Amino acid sequence: MKKIILPEYNTNVIKALLSLKIIDTEIPEPKNNEVLIKVHAAPVNPSDIAFMSGTYNIVKELPAVPGFEGSGIVTEVGRGAEDLLGKKVCFFTQEKEDGSWSEMVCTNRDNIVVLDEKMDMDQAACFAINPFTARGLVDIALLHKQKCVIQNAAGGQVAAFIRMIAKDKGIEVINIVRKKETVEKLKSDGAKYVLCEKSPDFNKELKELASKLNSHLAFDAVAGKATGYLMNAMPKGSEVVVYGGLSNKPVSGVDPLGLIFYNKLISGFNLPEWHENVDPDYFEEASKDLQDKFVTGAYSTTINGSFRFSQIRQALRKYLKDMSAGKVLIKPD
Ligand SMILES: NC(=O)c1ccc[n+]([C@@H]2O[C@H](COP(=O)([O-])OP(=O)(O)OC[C@H]3O[C@@H](n4cnc5c(N)ncnc54)[C@H](OP(=O)(O)O)[C@@H]3O)[C@@H](O)[C@H]2O)c1
Repeated sequence: MKKIILPEYNTNVIKALLSLKIIDTEIPEPKNNEVLIKVHAAPVNPSDIAFMSGTYNIVKELPAVPGFEGSGIVTEVGRGAEDLLGKKVCFFTQEKEDGSWSEMVCTNRDNIVVLDEKMDMDQAACFAINPFTARGLVDIALLHKQKCVIQNAAGGQVAAFIRMIAKDKGIEVINIVRKKETVEKLKSDGAKYVLCEKSPDFNKELKELASKLNSHLAFDAVAGKATGYLMNAMPKGSEVVVYGGLSNKPVSGVDPLGLIFYNKLISGFNLPEWHENVDPDYFEEASKDLQDKFVTGAYSTTINGSFRFSQIRQALRKYLKDMSAGKVLIKPD
C-alpha cells in the first residue's frame, strides 16, 4: 500500500509540503479491538498544517503520516471488532499511530464512527471532527442559556456547522472574519451578522452588537489578539472559549480589569476530551442526529476539490490559498 510521509517538521509550511513523499509499505495487521480501513478520502485541516510545521500539540516520531481523520470501509478486523467488518466508517487517528493520508489505516475501534449506509463518503471524510466540535460548542451555549454567540474564523467549516446547529436551536450568531470578500460570501449564504476584523470601527461595532444581542459567549478559533478583542468587547460575566490557535500567537490584549472586576472568563475546548466526557449514549444520539442531517443534505461540509496522493502538493496549495473556500480532500491514487 502507499502512504504519504512527512520526513521533517518545518515552520515554513511551503517547505514542509514540498518535503512530503509517497512511499510503498506493508499493509498493517489489525490487533485485538482494531480495524483495518481502506481509506476513501481524508481532508486537509488546520491541525495538519500545524502538525507539519511542528507547532501542533501532537508531535510524532518522524517520518510520520499526516492526517487526523478520514472515511473508508473496514476490510479486516482484529479479535473483538468482528462486528465492524464491511462497515462504512469515518475515523480519527491518535497520537502515536500513522495518520489518515494513507491507502489503509489501522486503528482502535474506539476511534471510528459507524456510518449510515446512505452517508456520502466524501462528506464522511470530514465528519469525525468538525460537526462534533460545533455540536460540543453549541452545547456550551445551551448550557449557559445563550440566545446569541460570537465566533471568529467564521468563513471556516467548524464555524459553518456552528451556524447550522445554532440556527436549529434558535441561537443567533455574530460572525467575525478577516477578509472583506468573506463578509459578502457569508451574507449571501444567509448569515445575518457578519463583521470584518479589518474594519476601522470593528471593536466598537462588536461591542455594540454584543451588548444589543446580549451575547455573553464567544468561540475563538484564532487566539492571539483575537481573544483580547473578544474579551474586551463582551459584557460583564462573559466567557471566551478558545478552541483553535489559527494566529499561531499566544493569547494577548486581554484587559485585566475584565477578569478582575467584570467576572469574565477564558476557557478552552478540545473535542477528544469532550468525546471522553460525554455519556456514550449521548454521543451516539448526537452522531445519529448529525448523520440524519447529512443524509438529507441539511448539513454538509463545503468541499473545494479532491486530489490524488500524487497531487498532494497541489491539494495543499489550493487549501492554503483560500481556506474559506472549503476543504480539499486527498484520495489514494
Ligand atoms: N479544539 C478542537 O477540538 C478543534 C476541533 C476542530 C477544529 N479545531 C480548530 O478550529 C479551527 C477552524 O478549523 P476549520 O476546520 O473550521 O478550518 P477551515 O475550514 O479550514 O477554515 C479556516 C478558517 O480560518 C480562517 N483563518 C485562518 N487563519 C486565520 C487567522 N490567522 N485569523 C483569522 N482567521 C483565520 C480562514 O479564513 P481566510 O479565508 O481568511 O484564510 C478560514 O475561514 C482550527 O484552528 C482548528 O484547528 C479545533
